[in-house]
Amino acid sequence: MDGKVVLITGATGGIGTAVAQKLAASGARLVLASRQTTVLESLTARCHEWGSPETLSIPTDVTDRLQVESLFEQVYQKLGQLDVVINGAGLGVLKPIQQLSEVEFDRMVAVNLKGTFLVCQQAVARWMQLKASGRVFNIPGILGQHPMGNASGYCASKYGVVGFTKAMALDCKRFDIKFTLLYLGGLDTPFWENAGMKVQRDKMLKPEQAADAIYFALQVPAPGVPSEIVIQPDSHLFL
Ligand SMILES: NC(=O)c1ccc[n+]([C@@H]2O[C@H](COP(=O)([O-])OP(=O)(O)OC[C@H]3O[C@@H](n4cnc5c(N)ncnc54)[C@H](OP(=O)(O)O)[C@@H]3O)[C@@H](O)[C@H]2O)c1
Repeated sequence: MDGKVVLITGATGGIGTAVAQKLAASGARLVLASRQTTVLESLTARCHEWGSPETLSIPTDVTDRLQVESLFEQVYQKLGQLDVVINGAGLGVLKPIQQLSEVEFDRMVAVNLKGTFLVCQQAVARWMQLKASGRVFNIPGILGQHPMGNASGYCASKYGVVGFTKAMALDCKRFDIKFTLLYLGGLDTPFWENAGMKVQRDKMLKPEQAADAIYFALQVPAPGVPSEIVIQPDSHLFL
């Protein structure tokens, strides 16, 4: 990954941090984006120690078009390059439909689906199609592929990410931009602290396994592209 520029949204989250560590150690130049500035700054310092001295952090709310445009403008000004985008910003509110509020539904759609759209649109239109290359990773998780009780709003947002990504990939085919959908089962991350559902975190995947999957996908030689990767804890095989 030497010298490649990788943008990670939701960088301070469980998956984002594991991916940042893995890619920093592999020599990538990282741009870390999420909302909480102090957490972002401390992660940036750790990335410098992990092997990516040029890591930048750019506080960004992915639901805000102007902030997303400014993020890409800064990447352009400061690094002049963008090779990989990993959309790790997301949240889940897991409740039965009878209890899910409109505000909670809107928040999931805004961050998980619209945020992914805004970031992908900038990445593709502003960068990757001009260079005729680029890699984009979206993370619907297994609930973008299979329904689960208590997850109607979350599934709606994540099935949306799948449809959006597959259709966008067709728009981008002639520009040699490659997309990977990660269908991950439950991972032991802070996601579950606010999801409103009791789970056994010790039985879940580790976020480092998501990072390993992304790293693997980036190593597959062209013209191959792992367009979809499924990883489940063995207690949930073939959900
Ligand atoms: N954990 C799982 O079991 C699991 C399984 C499958 C798929 N996924 C998906 O994988 C992605 C990452 O999950 P995770 O487990 O790493 O979650 P996490 O630990 O809760 O991290 C979520 C990240 O998203 C950021 N974020 C939230 N709202 C944002 C916004 N409006 N703008 C920018 N950043 C925002 C958070 O930072 P700030 O609050 O500072 O903005 C944080 O960095 C999500 O899309 C999730 O749905 C997770």
